[in-house]
Amino acid sequence: MSVVAAIGGQWGDEGKGKVVDYLAVQARYVVRCSGGDNAGHTVVNPHGEFKLRLMPSGVFYKGTTSIIGNGVVLNPAVLNSEIDGLNSRGIDTSRLIISERTNLIMPYHIVFDGLEEEALGGKAIGTTRKGIGPAFADKVARTGIRAGDLLDKKNLREKLTTALEYKNKILTKVYGKEPLSADEIYEQYCDYADRWAPRIHDTSSMISAAIERNEPVLLEGAQGFLLDPDFGTYPFATSSSPTVAGACIGSGIAPNLLTHALGIFKAYQTRVGAGPMPTELKDETGETIRELAHEYGTVSQRPRRCGWFDTVAARFSIRINGFDSIAVTRLDVLDKMPQINICTSYKIDGKTIDYFPASIAELEKCQPVYEELPGWESNTNDIRNFEKLPENARKYVLRLEELLSRPVSLISVGKRREQTIIRQNIF
Ligand code: GDP
Ligand code: IMO
Ligand code: MG
Repeated sequence: MSVVAAIGGQWGDEGKGKVVDYLAVQARYVVRCSGGDNAGHTVVNPHGEFKLRLMPSGVFYKGTTSIIGNGVVLNPAVLNSEIDGLNSRGIDTSRLIISERTNLIMPYHIVFDGLEEEALGGKAIGTTRKGIGPAFADKVARTGIRAGDLLDKKNLREKLTTALEYKNKILTKVYGKEPLSADEIYEQYCDYADRWAPRIHDTSSMISAAIERNEPVLLEGAQGFLLDPDFGTYPFATSSSPTVAGACIGSGIAPNLLTHALGIFKAYQTRVGAGPMPTELKDETGETIRELAHEYGTVSQRPRRCGWFDTVAARFSIRINGFDSIAVTRLDVLDKMPQINICTSYKIDGKTIDYFPASIAELEKCQPVYEELPGWESNTNDIRNFEKLPENARKYVLRLEELLSRPVSLISVGKRREQTIIRQNIF
Protein backbone atom coordinates (compact mmCIF):
# COMPACT_ATOMS: atom_id res chain seq x y z
CA MET A 1 0.00 0.00 0.00
CA SER A 2 1.29 3.49 -0.86
CA VAL A 3 -0.24 6.70 0.37
CA VAL A 4 2.11 9.60 -0.27
CA ALA A 5 1.65 13.23 0.77
CA ALA A 6 3.58 15.81 -1.30
CA ILE A 7 3.68 19.00 0.75
CA GLY A 8 5.29 22.43 0.33
CA GLY A 9 7.99 22.92 2.95
CA GLN A 10 8.57 26.68 2.58
CA TRP A 11 6.35 29.62 1.54
CA GLY A 12 4.66 27.95 -1.42
CA ASP A 13 5.63 27.69 -5.09
CA GLU A 14 8.24 25.05 -4.30
CA GLY A 15 7.38 23.12 -7.46
CA LYS A 16 4.59 20.93 -6.08
CA GLY A 17 2.87 20.82 -9.48
CA LYS A 18 6.06 19.63 -11.18
CA VAL A 19 6.76 16.95 -8.55
CA VAL A 20 3.15 15.72 -8.35
CA ASP A 21 2.93 15.47 -12.16
CA TYR A 22 6.14 13.42 -12.09
CA LEU A 23 5.03 11.10 -9.26
CA ALA A 24 1.40 10.73 -10.37
CA VAL A 25 2.31 8.10 -12.96
CA GLN A 26 2.42 5.75 -9.96
CA ALA A 27 -0.88 6.90 -8.41
CA ARG A 28 -4.51 5.87 -8.96
CA TYR A 29 -5.87 8.86 -7.06
CA VAL A 30 -4.43 12.36 -6.79
CA VAL A 31 -6.15 14.51 -4.19
CA ARG A 32 -5.96 18.29 -3.68
CA CYS A 33 -6.53 18.69 0.02
CA SER A 34 -6.12 22.33 1.07
CA GLY A 35 -6.27 25.94 -0.13
CA GLY A 36 -8.23 26.94 -3.18
CA ASP A 37 -7.49 28.86 -6.35
CA ASN A 38 -4.89 30.89 -4.47
CA ALA A 39 -2.69 27.98 -5.57
CA GLY A 40 -0.95 28.02 -8.94
CA HIS A 41 0.71 24.71 -9.74
CA THR A 42 2.78 24.71 -12.92
CA VAL A 43 3.08 21.46 -14.83
CA VAL A 44 5.21 21.05 -17.95
CA ASN A 45 4.84 17.68 -19.63
CA PRO A 46 4.41 16.25 -23.14
CA HIS A 47 0.89 17.80 -23.29
CA GLY A 48 2.26 21.34 -22.83
CA GLU A 49 2.60 23.88 -20.02
CA PHE A 50 -0.32 24.22 -17.57
CA LYS A 51 -0.98 26.45 -14.58
CA LEU A 52 -3.41 24.51 -12.43
CA ARG A 53 -5.43 26.26 -9.76
CA LEU A 54 -7.88 23.66 -8.47
CA MET A 55 -7.39 20.64 -10.67
CA PRO A 56 -5.06 18.06 -9.10
CA SER A 57 -1.76 17.76 -11.01
CA GLY A 58 -2.38 14.07 -11.79
CA VAL A 59 -5.06 14.89 -14.39
CA PHE A 60 -2.72 14.15 -17.31
CA TYR A 61 -2.68 10.38 -16.72
CA LYS A 62 -5.50 8.25 -18.11
CA GLY A 63 -5.58 5.86 -15.17
CA THR A 64 -5.74 8.53 -12.49
CA THR A 65 -8.82 9.83 -10.71
CA SER A 66 -8.61 13.48 -9.61
CA ILE A 67 -10.23 14.48 -6.36
CA ILE A 68 -10.93 17.91 -4.90
CA GLY A 69 -10.98 17.09 -1.21
CA ASN A 70 -13.04 18.45 1.65
CA GLY A 71 -10.14 20.66 2.80
CA VAL A 72 -10.29 22.82 -0.32
CA VAL A 73 -12.43 25.93 -0.78
CA LEU A 74 -13.81 25.74 -4.28
CA ASN A 75 -14.71 28.64 -6.55
CA PRO A 76 -16.98 26.98 -9.14
CA ALA A 77 -16.44 29.79 -11.67
CA VAL A 78 -12.68 29.16 -11.58
CA LEU A 79 -13.23 25.41 -11.86
CA ASN A 80 -15.46 25.97 -14.91
CA SER A 81 -12.86 28.01 -16.73
CA GLU A 82 -10.03 25.69 -15.70
CA ILE A 83 -11.87 22.61 -16.94
CA ASP A 84 -12.89 24.33 -20.18
CA GLY A 85 -9.29 25.42 -20.72
CA LEU A 86 -7.96 21.91 -20.13
CA ASN A 87 -10.62 20.34 -22.37
CA SER A 88 -9.87 22.79 -25.17
CA ARG A 89 -6.28 21.54 -25.04
CA GLY A 90 -7.37 17.93 -25.30
CA ILE A 91 -7.00 16.99 -21.62
CA ASP A 92 -9.68 14.62 -20.36
CA THR A 93 -11.13 15.88 -17.07
CA SER A 94 -13.99 13.41 -16.85
CA ARG A 95 -12.46 11.60 -13.87
CA LEU A 96 -12.69 14.62 -11.54
CA ILE A 97 -14.67 14.10 -8.34
CA ILE A 98 -15.53 16.78 -5.78
CA SER A 99 -16.08 16.16 -2.09
CA GLU A 100 -19.61 16.89 -0.92
CA ARG A 101 -17.97 18.48 2.14
CA THR A 102 -15.91 21.03 0.16
CA ASN A 103 -16.86 24.59 1.10
CA LEU A 104 -17.67 26.89 -1.80
CA ILE A 105 -16.22 30.30 -2.43
CA MET A 106 -19.13 32.69 -2.90
CA PRO A 107 -19.00 36.08 -4.65
CA TYR A 108 -19.13 37.88 -1.29
CA HIS A 109 -15.97 36.10 -0.12
CA ILE A 110 -14.03 37.68 -2.96
CA VAL A 111 -15.54 41.10 -2.28
CA PHE A 112 -14.63 40.88 1.42
CA ASP A 113 -11.09 39.66 0.71
CA GLY A 114 -10.50 42.87 -1.25
CA LEU A 115 -12.24 45.16 1.25
CA GLU A 116 -10.42 43.64 4.23
CA GLU A 117 -7.04 43.99 2.53
CA GLU A 118 -7.79 47.61 1.63
CA ALA A 119 -8.90 48.33 5.20
CA LEU A 120 -5.54 47.05 6.46
CA GLY A 121 -3.70 49.59 4.28
CA GLY A 122 0.05 49.35 4.87
CA LYS A 123 -0.48 46.31 7.12
CA ALA A 124 -2.19 44.25 4.38
CA ILE A 125 -1.37 40.51 4.19
CA GLY A 126 -0.90 40.61 0.43
CA THR A 127 -3.50 37.90 -0.13
CA THR A 128 -4.31 36.62 -3.59
CA ARG A 129 -7.75 38.24 -3.20
CA LYS A 130 -9.48 35.07 -4.29
CA GLY A 131 -11.78 35.01 -1.25
CA ILE A 132 -9.81 32.28 0.50
CA GLY A 133 -9.64 33.82 4.00
CA PRO A 134 -13.33 34.85 4.11
CA ALA A 135 -14.43 31.41 2.81
CA PHE A 136 -12.44 29.54 5.47
CA ALA A 137 -13.69 32.02 8.09
CA ASP A 138 -17.28 31.10 7.15
CA LYS A 139 -16.40 27.40 7.23
CA VAL A 140 -15.18 27.71 10.82
CA ALA A 141 -18.07 30.02 11.72
CA ARG A 142 -20.39 27.26 10.40
CA THR A 143 -22.06 29.57 7.90
CA GLY A 144 -20.37 28.20 4.78
CA ILE A 145 -22.15 26.68 1.80
CA ARG A 146 -20.76 23.31 0.72
CA ALA A 147 -20.64 21.46 -2.58
CA GLY A 148 -23.19 19.02 -1.15
CA ASP A 149 -25.63 21.93 -0.77
CA LEU A 150 -25.72 22.24 -4.56
CA LEU A 151 -27.55 18.91 -4.65
CA ASP A 152 -30.66 20.40 -3.02
CA LYS A 153 -31.60 23.74 -4.55
CA LYS A 154 -34.25 24.60 -1.95
CA ASN A 155 -31.70 24.13 0.78
CA LEU A 156 -29.16 26.13 -1.25
CA ARG A 157 -31.61 29.01 -1.56
CA GLU A 158 -32.28 29.01 2.20
CA LYS A 159 -28.61 28.91 3.16
CA LEU A 160 -27.74 31.61 0.68
CA THR A 161 -30.57 33.89 1.84
CA THR A 162 -29.49 33.56 5.48
CA ALA A 163 -25.81 34.12 4.70
CA LEU A 164 -26.38 37.03 2.35
CA GLU A 165 -28.70 38.87 4.73
CA TYR A 166 -25.81 39.14 7.18
CA LYS A 167 -23.11 39.77 4.53
CA ASN A 168 -25.15 42.56 2.97
CA LYS A 169 -25.51 44.27 6.36
CA ILE A 170 -21.74 44.39 6.67
CA LEU A 171 -21.30 45.42 3.06
CA THR A 172 -23.73 48.33 3.31
CA LYS A 173 -23.37 49.43 6.94
CA VAL A 174 -19.65 48.89 7.55
CA TYR A 175 -18.20 49.44 4.10
CA GLY A 176 -20.89 51.66 2.56
CA LYS A 177 -21.12 49.44 -0.54
CA GLU A 178 -24.05 48.24 -2.62
CA PRO A 179 -25.68 44.97 -1.45
CA LEU A 180 -25.30 41.81 -3.52
CA SER A 181 -28.34 40.20 -5.13
CA ALA A 182 -29.41 36.83 -3.71
CA ASP A 183 -31.35 36.05 -6.88
CA GLU A 184 -28.34 36.57 -9.12
CA ILE A 185 -26.03 34.49 -6.95
CA TYR A 186 -28.67 31.77 -6.60
CA GLU A 187 -29.13 31.51 -10.35
CA GLN A 188 -25.40 31.44 -10.94
CA TYR A 189 -24.90 28.67 -8.35
CA CYS A 190 -27.85 26.69 -9.79
CA ASP A 191 -25.95 26.67 -13.09
CA TYR A 192 -22.87 25.35 -11.28
CA ALA A 193 -25.09 22.77 -9.57
CA ASP A 194 -26.41 21.57 -12.94
CA ARG A 195 -22.86 21.17 -14.21
CA TRP A 196 -21.19 19.67 -11.15
CA ALA A 197 -23.87 17.68 -9.32
CA PRO A 198 -22.92 14.33 -10.94
CA ARG A 199 -19.33 14.79 -9.70
CA ILE A 200 -20.13 15.50 -6.06
CA HIS A 201 -19.58 12.49 -3.79
CA ASP A 202 -18.30 11.23 -0.47
CA THR A 203 -14.64 11.31 -1.53
CA SER A 204 -13.27 10.37 1.89
CA SER A 205 -14.98 6.97 1.60
CA MET A 206 -13.75 6.59 -1.97
CA ILE A 207 -10.14 7.24 -0.97
CA SER A 208 -10.36 4.93 2.03
CA ALA A 209 -11.81 2.16 -0.15
CA ALA A 210 -9.02 2.69 -2.70
CA ILE A 211 -6.44 2.35 0.05
CA GLU A 212 -8.08 -0.88 1.21
CA ARG A 213 -7.84 -2.18 -2.36
CA ASN A 214 -4.12 -1.36 -2.24
CA GLU A 215 -4.40 1.36 -4.88
CA PRO A 216 -1.74 4.06 -4.62
CA VAL A 217 -2.91 7.50 -3.51
CA LEU A 218 -1.06 10.81 -3.79
CA LEU A 219 -2.12 13.79 -1.68
CA GLU A 220 -1.19 17.12 -3.28
CA GLY A 221 -0.68 19.95 -0.84
CA ALA A 222 -1.14 23.61 -1.69
CA GLN A 223 0.78 26.63 -0.32
CA GLY A 224 3.67 25.85 2.02
CA PHE A 225 4.36 25.17 5.67
CA LEU A 226 5.48 28.72 6.52
CA LEU A 227 2.04 29.99 5.44
CA ASP A 228 0.32 27.71 7.97
CA PRO A 229 -2.07 29.71 10.19
CA ASP A 230 -0.70 27.98 13.33
CA PHE A 231 3.00 27.59 12.61
CA GLY A 232 3.68 30.04 9.79
CA THR A 233 4.37 33.75 9.98
CA TYR A 234 0.93 34.57 11.38
CA PRO A 235 -0.91 36.81 10.51
CA PHE A 236 1.01 36.81 7.23
CA ALA A 237 -0.32 33.37 6.47
CA THR A 238 -3.02 31.64 4.50
CA SER A 239 -6.21 30.23 6.04
CA SER A 240 -5.98 26.44 5.73
CA SER A 241 -3.25 24.16 7.00
CA PRO A 242 -0.76 23.35 4.24
CA THR A 243 0.85 20.64 6.38
CA VAL A 244 0.93 16.82 6.24
CA ALA A 245 -1.65 16.73 9.04
CA GLY A 246 -3.76 19.22 7.08
CA ALA A 247 -3.55 16.94 4.04
CA CYS A 248 -4.96 14.02 6.05
CA ILE A 249 -7.85 16.11 7.35
CA GLY A 250 -8.35 17.76 3.97
CA SER A 251 -8.69 14.45 2.17
CA GLY A 252 -10.49 12.59 4.95
CA ILE A 253 -7.99 9.83 5.67
CA ALA A 254 -6.50 8.68 8.95
CA PRO A 255 -2.91 9.93 9.50
CA ASN A 256 -1.60 6.42 10.16
CA LEU A 257 -2.50 5.40 6.60
CA LEU A 258 0.26 7.61 5.16
CA THR A 259 3.25 5.64 3.96
CA HIS A 260 5.49 8.56 2.96
CA ALA A 261 5.48 12.29 3.66
CA LEU A 262 7.52 14.11 1.03
CA GLY A 263 8.57 17.68 1.83
CA ILE A 264 9.12 19.80 -1.26
CA PHE A 265 11.71 22.56 -0.95
CA LYS A 266 13.31 24.88 -3.48
CA ALA A 267 17.10 24.85 -3.52
CA TYR A 268 16.79 28.45 -2.32
CA GLN A 269 13.74 30.27 -0.95
CA THR A 270 10.95 32.55 -2.17
CA ARG A 271 7.92 34.29 -0.78
CA VAL A 272 5.04 36.30 -2.31
CA GLY A 273 2.98 38.73 -0.26
CA ALA A 274 3.96 40.50 2.94
CA GLY A 275 5.57 39.14 6.12
CA PRO A 276 9.03 38.37 7.46
CA MET A 277 11.56 36.27 5.55
CA PRO A 278 14.89 36.13 7.38
CA THR A 279 17.05 35.09 4.40
CA GLU A 280 15.50 37.53 1.91
CA LEU A 281 18.11 39.03 -0.43
CA LYS A 282 17.21 42.64 -1.07
CA ASP A 283 20.31 43.10 -3.21
CA GLU A 284 21.66 42.24 -6.63
CA THR A 285 21.95 38.53 -5.80
CA GLY A 286 18.23 38.43 -5.02
CA GLU A 287 17.52 40.19 -8.33
CA THR A 288 19.77 37.73 -10.16
CA ILE A 289 17.94 34.73 -8.70
CA ARG A 290 14.56 36.28 -9.51
CA GLU A 291 15.51 36.89 -13.13
CA LEU A 292 17.35 33.58 -13.63
CA ALA A 293 14.42 31.67 -12.20
CA HIS A 294 11.70 33.97 -13.49
CA GLU A 295 10.30 34.19 -9.97
CA TYR A 296 6.94 35.86 -10.58
CA GLY A 297 3.65 34.60 -9.11
CA THR A 298 1.87 31.89 -11.13
CA VAL A 299 -1.51 33.40 -10.23
CA SER A 300 -0.80 37.07 -9.59
CA GLN A 301 2.44 37.66 -11.53
CA ARG A 302 3.70 39.48 -8.44
CA PRO A 303 7.52 39.40 -8.16
CA ARG A 304 8.54 36.75 -5.63
CA ARG A 305 10.97 37.75 -2.90
CA CYS A 306 14.08 35.58 -3.17
CA GLY A 307 16.62 34.42 -0.60
CA TRP A 308 18.99 31.65 0.43
CA PHE A 309 17.89 28.26 1.75
CA ASP A 310 16.92 28.61 5.40
CA THR A 311 17.59 25.41 7.36
CA VAL A 312 16.25 26.91 10.61
CA ALA A 313 12.81 27.27 8.99
CA ALA A 314 13.23 23.95 7.15
CA ARG A 315 14.02 22.00 10.34
CA PHE A 316 10.88 23.47 11.92
CA SER A 317 8.93 22.45 8.81
CA ILE A 318 10.35 18.91 9.00
CA ARG A 319 9.54 18.62 12.70
CA ILE A 320 5.89 19.64 12.39
CA ASN A 321 5.27 17.78 9.13
CA GLY A 322 7.29 14.67 9.95
CA PHE A 323 8.72 14.53 6.43
CA ASP A 324 10.27 11.16 5.57
CA SER A 325 12.28 12.60 2.73
CA ILE A 326 12.90 15.83 0.89
CA ALA A 327 12.49 16.85 -2.75
CA VAL A 328 14.89 19.65 -3.72
CA THR A 329 13.55 21.55 -6.73
CA ARG A 330 15.07 24.20 -9.00
CA LEU A 331 18.63 23.13 -8.30
CA ASP A 332 19.45 24.29 -11.85
CA VAL A 333 18.54 27.86 -10.92
CA LEU A 334 21.79 27.94 -8.91
CA ASP A 335 23.86 26.70 -11.89
CA LYS A 336 25.34 30.13 -12.54
CA MET A 337 26.00 31.19 -8.96
CA PRO A 338 29.70 31.35 -7.99
CA GLN A 339 28.84 31.02 -4.30
CA ILE A 340 25.81 29.62 -2.54
CA ASN A 341 24.84 30.32 1.05
CA ILE A 342 22.88 28.17 3.47
CA CYS A 343 21.38 29.76 6.58
CA THR A 344 22.19 27.57 9.59
CA SER A 345 21.05 29.79 12.48
CA TYR A 346 19.82 33.30 13.24
CA LYS A 347 21.35 36.11 15.27
CA ILE A 348 18.91 38.18 17.23
CA ASP A 349 20.18 41.07 19.35
CA GLY A 350 23.66 39.52 19.27
CA LYS A 351 22.40 36.12 20.47
CA THR A 352 22.52 33.03 18.23
CA ILE A 353 19.27 31.05 18.02
CA ASP A 354 18.42 27.88 16.11
CA TYR A 355 14.61 28.05 16.24
CA PHE A 356 12.01 29.88 14.17
CA PRO A 357 10.38 32.48 16.45
CA ALA A 358 6.59 32.73 16.62
CA SER A 359 6.65 36.51 16.95
CA ILE A 360 6.71 38.62 13.79
CA ALA A 361 8.65 41.34 15.64
CA GLU A 362 11.35 38.82 16.58
CA LEU A 363 11.44 37.26 13.12
CA GLU A 364 11.95 40.68 11.61
CA LYS A 365 15.02 41.14 13.78
CA CYS A 366 16.57 37.78 12.85
CA GLN A 367 19.82 38.06 10.95
CA PRO A 368 20.75 34.91 9.06
CA VAL A 369 24.05 33.21 9.87
CA TYR A 370 25.42 31.66 6.68
CA GLU A 371 27.61 28.80 5.72
CA GLU A 372 29.22 29.54 2.34
CA LEU A 373 29.58 26.85 -0.27
CA PRO A 374 31.25 27.11 -3.67
CA GLY A 375 28.93 27.01 -6.70
CA TRP A 376 29.33 24.55 -9.56
CA GLU A 377 28.93 27.02 -12.42
CA SER A 378 27.83 24.48 -14.98
CA ASN A 379 24.55 23.37 -16.48
CA THR A 380 22.58 20.62 -14.71
CA ASN A 381 19.38 20.64 -16.84
CA ASP A 382 20.19 17.45 -18.70
CA ILE A 383 21.51 15.39 -15.80
CA ARG A 384 19.33 12.47 -14.67
CA ASN A 385 21.70 10.72 -12.28
CA PHE A 386 22.92 12.06 -8.94
CA GLU A 387 26.46 10.77 -9.49
CA LYS A 388 26.67 12.78 -12.73
CA LEU A 389 25.92 16.11 -11.03
CA PRO A 390 28.94 18.44 -10.69
CA GLU A 391 30.82 17.69 -7.47
CA ASN A 392 29.85 20.98 -5.82
CA ALA A 393 26.17 20.42 -6.64
CA ARG A 394 26.36 16.99 -4.97
CA LYS A 395 28.13 18.57 -1.99
CA TYR A 396 25.38 21.17 -1.73
CA VAL A 397 22.64 18.53 -1.69
CA LEU A 398 24.54 16.32 0.76
CA ARG A 399 25.11 19.29 3.07
CA LEU A 400 21.38 20.02 3.04
CA GLU A 401 20.72 16.37 3.92
CA GLU A 402 23.14 16.64 6.81
CA LEU A 403 21.70 19.89 8.15
CA LEU A 404 18.10 18.65 7.78
CA SER A 405 18.72 15.07 8.96
CA ARG A 406 16.54 13.77 6.14
CA PRO A 407 17.39 12.05 2.85
CA VAL A 408 16.92 13.98 -0.38
CA SER A 409 14.90 11.49 -2.43
CA LEU A 410 14.19 13.63 -5.49
CA ILE A 411 16.05 16.47 -7.20
CA SER A 412 14.47 18.62 -9.89
CA VAL A 413 16.79 20.22 -12.45
CA GLY A 414 14.26 21.83 -14.78
CA LYS A 415 10.57 22.52 -15.13
CA ARG A 416 9.85 19.63 -17.49
CA ARG A 417 8.57 16.32 -16.11
CA GLU A 418 11.63 14.35 -17.16
CA GLN A 419 14.12 16.82 -15.67
CA THR A 420 14.14 14.84 -12.45
CA ILE A 421 16.72 12.82 -10.53
CA ILE A 422 15.42 10.06 -8.26
CA ARG A 423 17.60 8.85 -5.39
CA GLN A 424 15.06 6.87 -3.39
CA ASN A 425 11.72 5.27 -4.15
CA ILE A 426 8.87 7.36 -2.76
CA PHE A 427 5.94 5.08 -3.65
P1 GDP B 1 3.91 25.15 -6.93
O1 GDP B 1 2.91 26.16 -6.56
O2 GDP B 1 4.63 24.58 -5.75
O3 GDP B 1 3.36 24.07 -7.82
O4 GDP B 1 5.03 25.92 -7.78
P2 GDP B 1 4.75 26.99 -8.97
O5 GDP B 1 4.31 26.27 -10.17
O6 GDP B 1 3.92 28.12 -8.48
O7 GDP B 1 6.21 27.59 -9.15
C1 GDP B 1 7.28 26.77 -9.46
C2 GDP B 1 7.91 27.27 -10.77
O8 GDP B 1 9.15 26.60 -10.93
C3 GDP B 1 7.11 26.93 -12.01
O9 GDP B 1 7.31 27.95 -12.94
C4 GDP B 1 7.72 25.61 -12.48
O10 GDP B 1 7.58 25.41 -13.89
C5 GDP B 1 9.15 25.84 -12.14
N1 GDP B 1 9.94 24.66 -11.81
C6 GDP B 1 9.61 23.57 -11.08
N2 GDP B 1 10.68 22.78 -10.89
C7 GDP B 1 11.71 23.38 -11.51
C8 GDP B 1 13.09 23.08 -11.63
O11 GDP B 1 13.59 22.09 -11.13
N3 GDP B 1 13.85 23.97 -12.33
C9 GDP B 1 13.34 25.09 -12.89
N4 GDP B 1 14.18 25.89 -13.54
N5 GDP B 1 12.05 25.42 -12.78
C10 GDP B 1 11.25 24.58 -12.09
P1 IMO C 1 0.93 27.44 -4.16
O1 IMO C 1 0.01 26.27 -3.91
C1 IMO C 1 2.66 31.14 -2.67
C2 IMO C 1 0.17 33.56 0.03
C3 IMO C 1 -0.30 34.89 -0.51
C4 IMO C 1 -0.35 35.69 0.77
C5 IMO C 1 -0.85 34.66 1.79
C6 IMO C 1 -2.35 34.73 2.05
O2 IMO C 1 0.96 27.88 -5.57
O3 IMO C 1 2.26 27.22 -3.54
P2 IMO C 1 -4.44 33.94 0.61
O4 IMO C 1 -4.91 34.36 -0.74
O5 IMO C 1 -4.15 32.49 0.73
O6 IMO C 1 -5.34 34.43 1.71
O7 IMO C 1 -3.05 34.74 0.82
O8 IMO C 1 -0.52 33.39 1.24
N1 IMO C 1 -0.15 32.39 -0.83
C7 IMO C 1 0.74 31.75 -1.60
N2 IMO C 1 2.03 32.01 -1.84
N3 IMO C 1 2.07 30.06 -3.21
C8 IMO C 1 0.78 29.79 -2.96
O9 IMO C 1 0.18 28.66 -3.39
C9 IMO C 1 0.04 30.67 -2.15
N4 IMO C 1 -1.24 30.69 -1.72
C10 IMO C 1 -1.33 31.74 -0.91
O10 IMO C 1 0.61 35.43 -1.43
O11 IMO C 1 0.95 36.06 1.16
MG1 MG D 1 2.39 28.13 -7.02
